[in-house]
Amino acid sequence: MIKRIGVLTSGGDAPGMNAAIRAVVKAGMKNNIEVYGVYDGFRGLVEGKIEKLDYHSVNDKINRGGTFLGSARLSEFKDEKVRQVALEQLKKFGIEALVTIGGDGTYMGALRLTEMGINCIGLPATIDNDIASTDFTIGFDTAINTAVDAVDKLRDTSNSHQRCSIVEVMGRYCGDVAIATALATGAEMVVTAETGFDLQKVLDTAKQCCEMNKRHALFIFTEHITDVYELAKKVEAYSGFETRATVLGYIQRGGSPTARDRILASRLGVKAVELLINGEGGKCLGIINNEITAIDIKEALEMKKTPLAKFAHIVELLS
Ligand code: F6P
Repeated sequence: MIKRIGVLTSGGDAPGMNAAIRAVVKAGMKNNIEVYGVYDGFRGLVEGKIEKLDYHSVNDKINRGGTFLGSARLSEFKDEKVRQVALEQLKKFGIEALVTIGGDGTYMGALRLTEMGINCIGLPATIDNDIASTDFTIGFDTAINTAVDAVDKLRDTSNSHQRCSIVEVMGRYCGDVAIATALATGAEMVVTAETGFDLQKVLDTAKQCCEMNKRHALFIFTEHITDVYELAKKVEAYSGFETRATVLGYIQRGGSPTARDRILASRLGVKAVELLINGEGGKCLGIINNEITAIDIKEALEMKKTPLAKFAHIVELLS
């Protein structure tokens, strides 16, 4: 029976990571397993920033944004020599298995460590919701609620001044944050990598809104599509609708996790410990149709994401 496990958070932080760590620590301890926290992701693992956690370490954490263990991106973890150092650190601390919480970069690290003899279970946590093997990632629900709250505020001022508002949200190359935000805010249009960017369509839609004498118009864009500040100038010049651009940025990564994210994180954390107790590794967890699922990381990394872009037409239908 396994006696000691580690837990780390890696990649961009996501609200609900703390709730997941808490679940791993508590579920581990209830099963007489010692749980060690690895600070600052795989970088901290290589550097040996490891400490034993207990009930007190996770007290008052379920409601906190960010990750109290810290997070980092370490591209050097691809290098086997770097991973060998990580392995030695794990051996030094007597850590037999690991729960890794993060996005697909984190999954890759977990897979490689499992291949080197340390069972790892990956938990999906990123605001982007860009992991194919789960319907939802930890942090996505909080991020879209933050974005919706911000866009509601932008709507207030846009409405007062009769303006068009172009809002850029995060998501890396996945449009789920944008689509969900657009649907929930009654936006005129959403533009993501999956929907494609048709400049003329954006200009014409803004012109139409202006001609209809709309008090405001909302256009939601995923990051990396275009320079929204330049676009705002073009939209205003073409349509006659006074236009402003806002980039929501990192505010979407922070804040107290929603109940949905806390519940998801808690369920996933408990399942990860169960799998490690069963001697399983190289797996990642997800939630599909409200059931917790576990599949091989290799398989998960080959899966194609079904983006929420299939609902983009509803945004335009209801505009
Ligand atoms: O993956 C989460 C995310 O916030 C993306 O939405 C964004 O593109 C990226 O991280 C930003 O990364 P960094 O924190 O390295 O600037």
